[in-house]
Amino acid sequence: MCTKDLFSRPATTPHRLSEATFYLPGFALRNEASLLIDIARVLEQSPLRHMQTPGGFTMSVAMSNCGELGWVSDRKGYRYTTMDPLTNAPWPALPPCMQQLATEAAALCGFAGFMPDACLINRYAPGTRMSLHQDKNEQDFSAPIVSVSLGVDAVFQLGGLQRSDKPLRMGLQHGDVVVWGGEDRLRFHGVLPIKPQQHPLTGADRINLTFRKAG
Ligand code: SIN
Ligand code: FE2
Repeated sequence: MCTKDLFSRPATTPHRLSEATFYLPGFALRNEASLLIDIARVLEQSPLRHMQTPGGFTMSVAMSNCGELGWVSDRKGYRYTTMDPLTNAPWPALPPCMQQLATEAAALCGFAGFMPDACLINRYAPGTRMSLHQDKNEQDFSAPIVSVSLGVDAVFQLGGLQRSDKPLRMGLQHGDVVVWGGEDRLRFHGVLPIKPQQHPLTGADRINLTFRKAG
């Protein structure tokens, strides 16, 4: 179910970036093969698509979801749904290996018992970015956000609680995990435009998973 990679690294100690924000370098490398298989299976059922913003623009990042709830954006706004509007079927179930990764990462950072019910899958092609935003469509801000980076490198922007706070820039590589919760739960964050590069497992793309307790 959750195959550990043959050359898996020893357990990572989280680096505490602030009161309740943690960086776990390479934490997801322990099951990278299982993860990529799980993601491919999810995307066969609920394919990546470019959603519309409420203002009528097309998002450059392609998205899909798995879990009981999925994040969607369209002309009506941002929200979570139980059904994939593209397929009119429920979002694919959260694969146990993915859930376990998120729960374990959260626990290492002091968020014991984190049970995500939503996982947003973002695919960044070269040149795409995600502007600074807060994750605030969830019901329950007591649960953290667990973010897993796969594929090519990115520069992550970790802002403060105000949009005007100058963001910290940090490089994120394949397998890196970032967790923010508690008093940092509503930190602004974003991703700078992805530079053209190649990764042996994802080609030119970056894949990001964000696990949330949305309902
Ligand atoms: C997100 O905030 O949904 C994605 C963040 C990332 O891609 O690292
Ligand atoms: Fe986000």
